[in-house]
Amino acid sequence: MQPPCRTSELSVLEEVLVEASAGGRALLLEGDPGVGKTALVDALAACARNHGAPVLRVVGVETEQELAFSALHQLLYPLLDQLPRIPAFQGQVLEQALSIREGSPPGRLAISAAALALLKVVAKEDPVCVVVDDAHWIDQSSAEVLLFMARRLSGCRVAFVMAARSGWNGFVDPADLPIITLSPLNPEDARTLLEHSHPGLAETTRRRLLDEAEGNPLALLELPQQLNTAQRRGEESLPVNLPLSARLESVFADRIRLLTPTIRFGGQRHSPPGRHSSYREQGPLQDRPPERPESSAIQNRSSSRMKRSWC
Ligand SMILES: Nc1ncnc2c1ncn2[C@@H]1O[C@H](COP(=O)(O)OP(=O)(O)O)[C@@H](O)[C@H]1O
Ligand SMILES: [Mg+2]
Repeated sequence: MQPPCRTSELSVLEEVLVEASAGGRALLLEGDPGVGKTALVDALAACARNHGAPVLRVVGVETEQELAFSALHQLLYPLLDQLPRIPAFQGQVLEQALSIREGSPPGRLAISAAALALLKVVAKEDPVCVVVDDAHWIDQSSAEVLLFMARRLSGCRVAFVMAARSGWNGFVDPADLPIITLSPLNPEDARTLLEHSHPGLAETTRRRLLDEAEGNPLALLELPQQLNTAQRRGEESLPVNLPLSARLESVFADRIRLLTPTIRFGGQRHSPPGRHSSYREQGPLQDRPPERPESSAIQNRSSSRMKRSWC
């Protein structure tokens, strides 16, 4: 299902699908935690499936980041029955890389070339949509292979979309990949989402939540859940620091952990340890990197071409 309020962003992603059916396209979707990257790539995957395109989905997992080729394993495991379609030595290379054949893993170039060959073979019948979500968590070996593939899609009908956190891509070096930066929802869309997800809030409460959430969908959905009935109705004032749900805490904890100590504890911006911190203090706007020029260029592209889109 299409996430509400993201029509133009989804259109840009759909364009990747359209172009992939004529030749490969790769793209990196960046954004703050909770801004809606997963919702968007899920919508893209649904769109591809609706048009009969196989979807290969990889999700970076923090606990597997030290496991070499664990993300590549996710990508290739569903394709193992296709191995006979590529040269036998390349099939063996992949089996060794995924530890389903004896022998030490071959070199990175051999693995990358074999993985690309397999993807190309699979995309011969139908365009394939590859989605790599939480790419900032994928292991280094897989990241190198996936980026090798993403840069060599010309002539093969693959849409290759990676989603990662802004300012922290882990082992994913986007270098020359096109990037879309997913911005927070605009005020109107943020209000719509809040009103739909939490009807009946007092206007004062709603305004405060909109102010604190700064257009972040996760915050808009979860901050109100921490309020009691009187606070929701505007009969009791809200605390200076709004309490965080467990999910908001965990999503932003990584970000706080990665900030340098000076940024983390310096100035007024983040709470010192031991003090209860609010969403605003942990939130996504504090250290947002400057927008990349190429992102804006992509974002501002006319969506008129989307008339011929897949969805
Ligand atoms: N445009 C949107 N409309 C409604 N809900 C949204 C929208 N974007 C994201 N969400 C919801 O907000 C939460 C966080 O979104 P998610 O895609 O997981 O963020 P990210 O992957 O960027 O961390 C999820 O519950 C998701 O369903
Ligand atoms: Mg996500």
